Amino acid sequence: MAKVLKERLMTSIDIGTTKICVLVAQQTGADNVEILGMGKAPSEGLQKGVVVNVAKTIQSIQQAIKEAELVSGISIESAYVGISGAHIRSLNSHGVVPIKKGMVRASDVISVLAAAQAIPVPEGYQVLHVLPQYFVIDGQERLQDPIGMHGIRLEVQAHIILGAITSVQNLVSCCEAAGIHVDDIILEPLASAQAVLSEDERQLGVGLLDIGGGTADLAIYQNGTIVHTYVVPVAGNHFTNDIAIGLRTSLKDAERVKIEHGSVDLYENKDIQVECAQGGNMRTISTQTLGMILHARAQELLHLVRKEIDNKHLKIYCTSGLVITGGGSLLNGIDVVAKGIFDMPVRIGNLHVSYALPGTLETPIYATGYGLLLHALKTRQTPFGRHVDGPFVKRVVSRMKSWVNDFF
Ligand SMILES: Nc1ncnc2c1ncn2[C@@H]1O[C@H](COP(=O)(O)OP(=O)(O)OP(=O)(O)O)[C@@H](O)[C@H]1O
Ligand SMILES: [Mg+2]
Repeated sequence: MAKVLKERLMTSIDIGTTKICVLVAQQTGADNVEILGMGKAPSEGLQKGVVVNVAKTIQSIQQAIKEAELVSGISIESAYVGISGAHIRSLNSHGVVPIKKGMVRASDVISVLAAAQAIPVPEGYQVLHVLPQYFVIDGQERLQDPIGMHGIRLEVQAHIILGAITSVQNLVSCCEAAGIHVDDIILEPLASAQAVLSEDERQLGVGLLDIGGGTADLAIYQNGTIVHTYVVPVAGNHFTNDIAIGLRTSLKDAERVKIEHGSVDLYENKDIQVECAQGGNMRTISTQTLGMILHARAQELLHLVRKEIDNKHLKIYCTSGLVITGGGSLLNGIDVVAKGIFDMPVRIGNLHVSYALPGTLETPIYATGYGLLLHALKTRQTPFGRHVDGPFVKRVVSRMKSWVNDFF
């Protein structure tokens, strides 16, 4: 392990519907981190990706933080935190500014992003991310990086992500009550994309579907940037509930059966034991019955995503197909069902990292936590470290710096 330097330390907290996962890492290169410790606790205070019980959420965060501190031997003070949930909205916007000194500088990019953000934000919502899709100077070709180019007028097309203020506040106050300062709030699909998509996929165009416990988050990329985001409030917990109802078993046993034998295969016929709902006795059922239940729910979920892709004409962006990640992607055969429904190549998104990870982290369940770290790395490497006066300006400028870095 490299010598631990405080200024290189970073922590992420993935506050999911089923688990809270804390990763402590040290930056080891421009886009590399070394994981120093992990802490995990069952998440009891969330439903469909949003906090519904503050006390339970604080407790789970504290438990996961404590475990990560013990494993890494590092005291955690602040963290990058992921956000998701059905309250997330996204829209595309346009901004124009004059180029002040005839050549685009970082300050012009910040101004044009601020102009793109001047939209009527619905009451109770706040801007979480402003993600530039492309820039145009004087009506010419689309550019990814306008800095240093000459011209008079700078335009940007940006994707704006909004979140409900109350959901953001609940997340921040849970972390603060657990003794953790929030460095930034990052949309979870953006984070997962960092962890599982290759650079080529993001350039050519790809869809990323993170099937968690409470929500399935869709993010569509092309030309290295996000084009569309959508959150479906159906995910892993619904599969478990269906099994519990369909097989008349407890939720706990339904979850076990899903993880041990879950498959969308309609033809596999093997006897398995499940616990009766009232507890105690075991019953024998066929995996074919289990497969029918899971297949039906997988179809429903994937058809909801397909409807969004069709309604918003997004298929043209998915040149490289669809990547499925999150715990729900571990359901056997879900990629095969998805291939049929989307009529495009589908793969399971395991972590796409340039060095070996501790074995236990090599599962799509940790894609968001790991991606939060990679996303934070990008926002740290900012070339705009000047002209900051006072705390408010500092906050606004650093927020904008992070938008600029969402892009570069
Ligand atoms: N082997 C498996 N087969 C099927 N499903 C699985 C498997 N392992 C985990 N899951 C399911 O994955 C879900 C949890 O995934 P994940 O950890 O990505 O969710 P989360 O981040 O807690 O939730 P969310 O992102 O929705 O807030 C659970 O519903 C769990 O049952
Ligand atoms: Mg998740």
